[in-house]
Formats: sequence, structure tokens, C-alpha cells
Amino acid sequence: MNVLIVGATFGIGYELAKKYAHSCNHLILIGRTEKKLEEIKTEFSNLKAKIITDNIDVTNSSHCTERINNIIKDYPVIDKAIYCSGYYEPHNTFDINIDLFKKTMDVNFMGMINVFSILLPHLKKQNHGHLGIVASLAGFGGLPNSSSYGPSKAAMMNYAESIKIDCDKYNIKVSIINPGFVQSRLTEKNSFDMPFLMSSEKAASIIYNGLKKEQYEITFPLPMKILFKTLRVLPRFVYFWIVKIITKA
Ligand SMILES: NC(=O)c1ccc[n+]([C@@H]2O[C@H](COP(=O)([O-])OP(=O)(O)OC[C@H]3O[C@@H](n4cnc5c(N)ncnc54)[C@H](OP(=O)(O)O)[C@@H]3O)[C@@H](O)[C@H]2O)c1
Repeated sequence: MNVLIVGATFGIGYELAKKYAHSCNHLILIGRTEKKLEEIKTEFSNLKAKIITDNIDVTNSSHCTERINNIIKDYPVIDKAIYCSGYYEPHNTFDINIDLFKKTMDVNFMGMINVFSILLPHLKKQNHGHLGIVASLAGFGGLPNSSSYGPSKAAMMNYAESIKIDCDKYNIKVSIINPGFVQSRLTEKNSFDMPFLMSSEKAASIIYNGLKKEQYEITFPLPMKILFKTLRVLPRFVYFWIVKIITKA
């Protein structure tokens, strides 16, 4: 099995990479931090997978598409691709930094499109494959101080639903992954209480098992999943009332 992980240098992507390094044949890891990619190569050198790394900024579409094309030329069979690159910066509703909104959308959504613009037609041609898309519980509904991050994750969730039926026709599985709070560089920025906060390792374990079962949706932890699923179907005035209480906004 050949696995590609985009956003594998830190956090959830790195922990996922560690898991796949034990089980797959070729593991292609992507991130911007060259030094970390080199360290990972050394760290995983005794494990089963042959590690291939590439330093790609997913927001640079021409560079990104060219490099993904090269990867496919070198490794024509991609069995699983997981998009884990992400960016989040907490901010105030009334303090709209346009560059921050653009960057969030560029990394979380357009970066994925840059990668998939090459990968999806390739998976179609090989007539099999599995795409894992790491979105977030924040994509289920608008939350205070999440007006840049939340919409980017909602876009990813909608995108996964949009491609699912066509992908089925070509034996391409799609999984949308919606974690709650996970310890990483991203959540280090939060100054508020994060209920059910879990380690990146635990999150990666849940994602790995869900992907193994080819589940369409991998949403966790369970109490947050139940809460967000319930909030989604409630009338909006009840939704805002509960979200205001929970987030102390
Ligand atoms: N932590 C949470 O509570 C949480 C909850 C729900 C969802 N998520 C999602 O989980 C995913 C992983 O996040 P994390 O928490 O593990 O954060 P993280 O530790 O900061 O990891 C983010 C990854 O994205 C890569 N990345 C960022 N910008 C990039 C770019 N322009 N081009 C290529 N790669 C880029 C980073 O690598 P380089 O810096 O080396 O490029 C890194 O490998 C994200 O999509 C995040 O939104 C996280």
C-alpha cells in the first residue's frame, strides 16, 4: 500500500505518518518544514515503509501541482491520500484581517483543491483509491471567534459530500474527518477551555482505525459528536442560545 499524507510534519499528520510507516510500502510525506521532513525520514528509517518526503507549500498552486505530478510519475499507484494541512488563527469578529481570511481559506480549502486537481483524475484512472479529508467539528456550524476557520472547514465538508457519489463510480473511497480539540501547534493558540482535549497521537489512532474501516465520516470525540450533530438540526434560535452558553460568548 502506498500512502500520501499532506501536512505530515507536525501534529495529527505527523502522528498519522508514524502509524502508516509501520504498515505501508511507500509513505510520501509533505509539508513546508524541510528540516522536520529530514528528521522524520531518519526517525522512521527502521520502520516498514520507504519514506519519501517533499517540501511543498500547498498554497502555491503551480509549484504544488507540478510537484504532485512528479510524485505520481515516480509512484504511479497511490492507494490512500490524506489531506491534513491546516491553518487557524483565533481572532475577533470585528477585527477582520483580510489576509488572515485568505490564508485560512488558501491552506485549508484551496490547498486541498491544488493537491486534488492532480490526484483525483489520477485515482479515477487507476480506478481505486481512498481520500481522507481532515476538516473539523468547527465546520458543522458557526462558532464565535471562528469566522475564518469555520467556513474553510464547512467548505471541506461540503466538498467531500460533493465528490462522494462520483468517486464511488471509480472505486474511490472518500472519508471526511472531523476532530474535536486536539493538542497541537494550532490549539496552543487557544486561551479558552477546550473540552475533551486529546493528544495528537490519540486523534491519529481514531483516524487510522476509521480510515481502515473506510468510514465516510470520522467525527470524534463521541460527546462532541453528539452535541454538534444535535446542534445542527435544532432551530437556529435554540442553536445560538446553546452556543452562547457553551462558549461563554
Ligand atoms: N488541533 C485541533 O484541535 C484540530 C481540530 C480539528 C481539526 N484540526 C485539523 O487537523 C489538521 C492538522 O492540524 P494540527 O492540529 O495537527 O496542526 P499542526 O500541528 O499545526 O499541523 C498542521 C500541518 O499543516 C501543514 N501546513 C500548514 N500550512 C501548510 C502549507 N501552506 N503547505 C503545506 N503544508 C502546510 C504543517 O506543516 P508545515 O508547517 O511544515 O508546512 C503541518 O504539518 C488541520 O487541518 C486542522 O485544521 C485540528
